Amino acid sequence: MTATPIRPRSMGTHLTRLDGHEKVTGVAAYAVEHALDLPERPLHAWLVTSTIARGTVERVDASDALAHPGVVQVLDHTSARRLAKPDDAELAVLQDDAIGFRGQIVAVVLAETSEAAREGARLVRVHQTPAAAPAEVVLDDGEAYAPEVANAGHEPDTTDGDVDAALAGAAVVVDATYTTPHEFNSPMEPHAVTAVWDGEHLSMWDSTQSVHGVASVIGRALGLERGKTRVRAPYVGGGFGSKGLPHAPEMAAALAAFAADGRPVQLAVTRQQMFSLTGYRTQTVSRFRLGAEPDGRLLALSHDALSQTSRYKEFVEQTATSARTMYAADARATTHRVVPLDVAVPAWMRAPGEMPGMFAQEVAMDELAVACGVDPIQLRLRNEPDVDPDTGNLFNNRRLLECLERGAARFGWAERDPEPGVRLDGDWRVGTGVASASYPALFMPGNTTRIQALGEGRYAVSIGAVDIGTGARTVLTQIAADALGVEPGRIELSLGDTELPKATVAGGSAGTSSWGTSIVLAAQQLRADHGDDPDAGVETTATSEGYPDMENLALHSFGAVFAETRVHRWTGEVRVPRMLGVYSVGRVINPTTARSQFLGGLVMGLSGALFEEGYRDPRFGHVVTQDLATYHVASHADVGDLQVEWLDEEDTAATPMGSRGIGEIGIVGTAAAIANATFHATGTRVRDLPLTADHFLT
Ligand code: MOS
Repeated sequence: MTATPIRPRSMGTHLTRLDGHEKVTGVAAYAVEHALDLPERPLHAWLVTSTIARGTVERVDASDALAHPGVVQVLDHTSARRLAKPDDAELAVLQDDAIGFRGQIVAVVLAETSEAAREGARLVRVHQTPAAAPAEVVLDDGEAYAPEVANAGHEPDTTDGDVDAALAGAAVVVDATYTTPHEFNSPMEPHAVTAVWDGEHLSMWDSTQSVHGVASVIGRALGLERGKTRVRAPYVGGGFGSKGLPHAPEMAAALAAFAADGRPVQLAVTRQQMFSLTGYRTQTVSRFRLGAEPDGRLLALSHDALSQTSRYKEFVEQTATSARTMYAADARATTHRVVPLDVAVPAWMRAPGEMPGMFAQEVAMDELAVACGVDPIQLRLRNEPDVDPDTGNLFNNRRLLECLERGAARFGWAERDPEPGVRLDGDWRVGTGVASASYPALFMPGNTTRIQALGEGRYAVSIGAVDIGTGARTVLTQIAADALGVEPGRIELSLGDTELPKATVAGGSAGTSSWGTSIVLAAQQLRADHGDDPDAGVETTATSEGYPDMENLALHSFGAVFAETRVHRWTGEVRVPRMLGVYSVGRVINPTTARSQFLGGLVMGLSGALFEEGYRDPRFGHVVTQDLATYHVASHADVGDLQVEWLDEEDTAATPMGSRGIGEIGIVGTAAAIANATFHATGTRVRDLPLTADHFLT
């Protein structure tokens, strides 16, 4: 059985966030707060990290630390439990003496209080020997190679037609290089774990986007049988991808729990440690080449993307994948190359690939519009493909142009000066810019939902999904209500626990689509087998494999982002007084929580456009800007008037709810719209993020 489309009743309405009250009253417990409820007092763990980028740990001298009255134990690579499968280098914590980057975990201090643990960590003396060969920590120093696959299983390279020949024959050519810096996820709740080993079971309360993912990866590495690792995450204070995969701190907490002899261990990663231990968006360098007819029609489109990975675990930012699908061009090519460095492991950050890749692409398109003397929206209209250029499949629902046109009308695009650098308001140069956005409608199979009738039209719905703050708890309740034909108040939804049926990660903007489809399938199966008003105790469990129409269609969401910028003529300061995002994302299941997702995406895009830049020390490869004072994330004072809207639509080719994902598309295109607006304001073309003041003081 496969799920079939459901009719909206609660879907599309502003159901108030179901866990809002718990959150604002402080009742909602986050990862380390669960330790308070356990019978045994917890031990506090503090991580000690390497101070060289490449070499070996000769000896961890814990004598001073252990002399501290509060310190109980210090674990290092000679004393931590051995992993059964240490094959994932990032998770092989304290397994040998090798140092692969500065900031790597080399010891864990366990103490009676957080303060003692921290002081104990300061007292641990780590004797390290640098490797004979100097560490390579700068992108330019390393040797680039072609990875076997880009992140998420994409081919690293694609070719269709002869790009060089098409460029040679083009009347207008844009050939430019765009860069984005290291960027770091800064969710409100840092990575944190409470872990207990009772001699047979490992229990973890983790700040994660995937309880089942953590349980299976950590459990397998430790050699625990299935079912012996339980992970819970009832509330999570954000993730953006950094909590999509388990990272080293989770393993450190698990190892500490084994050493703690039945006492719970609580570990909160410090904000500074997040800059080396929880993944980050790698720096990217994109060469973008566009060749066009005089009217802007594309003949050639080529995106060569370079990023860095860590030497001991590969991660490839899929920077060029959106160039494969966005615009029609006779000849197209994309490549991904990576440089391995002796640095921390990069990982996911909201729209990995699309965010830096579409910054390059959409600024290049703006440059082409200027070179051809064509309005940027007209240019995109002229390059609208009939089918997905990458797969040749029909788009299910490609409404990019409507997003652009609606946005243009609302934003006042028609009044825009055709020439850049002509509007001055006091000492501020004023301009506007636009960019397209796209994000694939991903879907993850293998989600299982259990529905139990409780009688009188009430149902318990269980799935091991995670609400990381997006509103998933609320939205899944609405989906269950509509699929079962009852009011949302009659649904008791349980999630965030591996005791509940298996669910995939809250990532790839695929959570609601994937989990929701499984909820719909279970509901439809229950109703088919037991009628619309089953007796209390009747239960159905169903696992969704896919959804009927996904194979032969190109499923993507689209958007158009408009920005106004003001650039100070004497200081170069950039302000963004207003932005507008118009999106085509299928049915919006809850307008309140969805709006927050889009607004959050726009803010994060603005933050990347103007501020975020991790500065890496070229001697050691660690991030110097490792706090929120020196790594500025957009705050209230940086954000002006933000408007979002979406097209009224449903996409039952994507999911039985008619929805597609919305978590990531809001960040895509935003930095390009802002960069394009600063060009329009000043006539200065900036191709490197962030758009700091110095760029405009030429
Ligand atoms: Mo998000 S970067 O897909 O968790």
